[in-house]
Amino acid sequence: MPEEKDEEQVQEEISDDLTELEGVGPVTAKRLIGAGYTTLESLVLATSSELAAATGITESAARKIIAAARKRLNVEVMSAYDYYLQRKSVQRITTGSRKLDDLLGGGIETQAITEIYGPYGSGKTQLCHQVAVTVQLPPEKGGLGRTTLFIDTEGTFRPERIVQIAERFELDSEEALKAILYARAFTSDHQMIVTEKAESLMKERDIGIIIVDSLISHFRGEYVGRESLAARQQKLNRYLHKLLKLALGYNAAVLVTNQVVADPGTFFGDPNKPAGGHVLGHGVTARLYIRRAKKGLRQITLVKSPYLPEASIEVKITERGVEDA
Ligand SMILES: Nc1ncnc2c1ncn2[C@@H]1O[C@H](COP(=O)(O)OP(=O)(O)OP(=O)(O)O)[C@@H](O)[C@H]1O
Ligand SMILES: [Mg+2]
Repeated sequence: MPEEKDEEQVQEEISDDLTELEGVGPVTAKRLIGAGYTTLESLVLATSSELAAATGITESAARKIIAAARKRLNVEVMSAYDYYLQRKSVQRITTGSRKLDDLLGGGIETQAITEIYGPYGSGKTQLCHQVAVTVQLPPEKGGLGRTTLFIDTEGTFRPERIVQIAERFELDSEEALKAILYARAFTSDHQMIVTEKAESLMKERDIGIIIVDSLISHFRGEYVGRESLAARQQKLNRYLHKLLKLALGYNAAVLVTNQVVADPGTFFGDPNKPAGGHVLGHGVTARLYIRRAKKGLRQITLVKSPYLPEASIEVKITERGVEDA
């Protein structure tokens, strides 16, 4: 165990970091910390309106602070070559299905958020179980040889399923279970806190993937009605930034599941669309849609990717997990 620091000491250290930024005095630093912006990285990823709303400072002050953080971290501009080098450190985790890996350009990427949405019973949680195991595989078998943080908001995680899937991949099932850190989140606030706590575990436990199943159910359940939509979206945005920050900072993958809502404007074709609106649509890097297909199969479509074409494949879900059909 690393040496424990008391909370005050930690706060002071964070505050020192932040007050080095132009436009941030001790009072503003305290506000930033209170709103969860504890690192320069978190400020770099924030938008000015979000930062202003979360901390109560003006938007123009927020803009200046973000610009200062960007300057300090040297992220304003970088050469395409440096970016290329950074991208080269991106790794991929096999999903255990060759076809799904191909669809994703080689597997689930680190430094990115991958979303899978679909109706109930379509297989989202099954895939989460599977990837919680495959990330543990050694690199020559398509894994990262790292561990999983599994944030369960619906109470549907089943260790028994991990045992079955581990056997399929010839991993010791006890070891496989021990390499999954499990956290149940009971509210959206709780989900935020659990994810914040993950920061200290990322390195200590060598977490290669954070799985959030489901990303959105608490947000949808707690913020009902039109008038609370803006607040919900703002919080969801903050949450996504938190996840992305962890993904970038620790070269880890993030896999989130999402529900579907019926789009009343659809007269022809599939009325299902992902919940979470534009915030989620923009916030995730790759987006998969899973649904039941003929003969008990599941169709998975890549609907958003920064560099891959839209395409579909079919898989089956068996005792052994998600397999090529
Ligand atoms: N051991 C198993 N063997 C075969 N199929 C299974 C097994 N366990 C689950 N399944 C299949 O997976 C389905 C459940 O999928 P899953 O729980 O992943 O759905 P989901 O998309 O997460 O749904 P929700 O939105 O309700 O969370 C079951 O209906 C069943 O078809
Ligand atoms: Mg589920």
